[in-house]
Amino acid sequence: MSHLRATAARGLRRSGGRGALRRKGASPRGAAPAPAPAPPPSRHLFSDPAEIEALRGHLLAWYDKCKRDLPWRTLAATELDADRRAYAVWVSEIMLQQTQVATVIDYYNRWMQKWPTLQALAQASLEEVNELWAGLGYYSRGKRLQEAARKVVSELAGQMPRTAEDLQKLLPGVGRYTAGAIASISYGQATGVVDGNVIRVLCRMRCIGADSSSPAVIERLWDMANALVDRSRPGDFNQALMELGATVCVPKAPLCGECPLKQHCQAQRRVEKELAFASQKLFGKRAPVSDVEDCGLLAGLWEFPSLPLAQGLQEEKQREVLADHLQAWTGRPVAAGGLRFIGEVVHIFSHIHQTYVVYSLSLDGDVTLDPALSPSRWVTEEEFHASAVSTAMKKVLKAHEKQRGEESSPGKGSKRKRGAKLQGASSTCPGTQLSLRAFLRAPKSP
Ligand code: ADE
Repeated sequence: MSHLRATAARGLRRSGGRGALRRKGASPRGAAPAPAPAPPPSRHLFSDPAEIEALRGHLLAWYDKCKRDLPWRTLAATELDADRRAYAVWVSEIMLQQTQVATVIDYYNRWMQKWPTLQALAQASLEEVNELWAGLGYYSRGKRLQEAARKVVSELAGQMPRTAEDLQKLLPGVGRYTAGAIASISYGQATGVVDGNVIRVLCRMRCIGADSSSPAVIERLWDMANALVDRSRPGDFNQALMELGATVCVPKAPLCGECPLKQHCQAQRRVEKELAFASQKLFGKRAPVSDVEDCGLLAGLWEFPSLPLAQGLQEEKQREVLADHLQAWTGRPVAAGGLRFIGEVVHIFSHIHQTYVVYSLSLDGDVTLDPALSPSRWVTEEEFHASAVSTAMKKVLKAHEKQRGEESSPGKGSKRKRGAKLQGASSTCPGTQLSLRAFLRAPKSP
């Protein structure tokens, strides 16, 4: 399925450096003033308390049945002393950063045998630490762990900080993830964790197609993890979510049939819809037209001003409709001839091939955007990258920057022909969309 949209890459002002963004889903002629960001549609969130409760139950039941037997889990469950427990979890979490579980087990057992407490580790020499760490890689992890243990012994009277916030604040080398893991697993603090596995699971479950490496998206995932975490078994819940990502909801060929959360998964729902759609098509039945907006992958994100185009529209007509659109949006005359063609950017959202026909427009002076017409704002390039924008919009900006670069060093670049497609670093967006595609096995046409 392919969709065509015209987009003005940037309303560039002569003074340079700023572009305009509008919130996706907002009509420029919309009546309701909505300057504040619109919340994403409910399928991108967990907003039903009954669903959250059910999800926790399904995940924990699966974990109780399928969890891997790991030495740090045994210690976390049996050690009565809170400092020893926190230390045991801390060591495991540091070792598990960038290293597979299977590799970590032996190292962990040796470490805990040699240094069962913070005090024991604080007295070790760096040489001993490095010797035991040999083969695990990223040696600074061991060194920093020992330095932090020394700090707990010398400055905190041997007592581990008791909350995620204090762990992160007081322990060097302990970031948001590690602090959340230690606090939830060893103290039962109801705080979520977000690591690579959790990002993938949550993005799939809520069909989030935005760039999951962007700070704005990550922030939303932390909110989601904190809202979901089971209040009475936070440590088990967090480990279960990570374990699910590591063993079932894997990056390629996920085992959806075995997933305890399949009934909560929007990606799974879409795949089922897609297969029903494909089989209807196969048997010649009339299938409902699915609209790209309906797929909801981008709802709530910022985009450059853009509008859908009919397939096969001539360039002249494209320019006209885009100029009209921008005229309504900026409140000043925009000539079709003033639009500069940048190129076409292809982006794949799940199964949807979207082609953006990109134009830029230079504007003189200040253009005040009326929030009553559309929730839009001017942004600097830095602000753009810090905003919740899709990978597609990043590609659009890149295409524009590329052309600008070619113009400033004309010898280097070749002039892009109309119709040539610009593809970003990867046209099949890494992460969610690529993985979503991996779900789709449309029946072959007869
Ligand atoms: N990855 C990092 N720490 C983990 C844990 N405690 N359980 C499962 N996966 C993890």
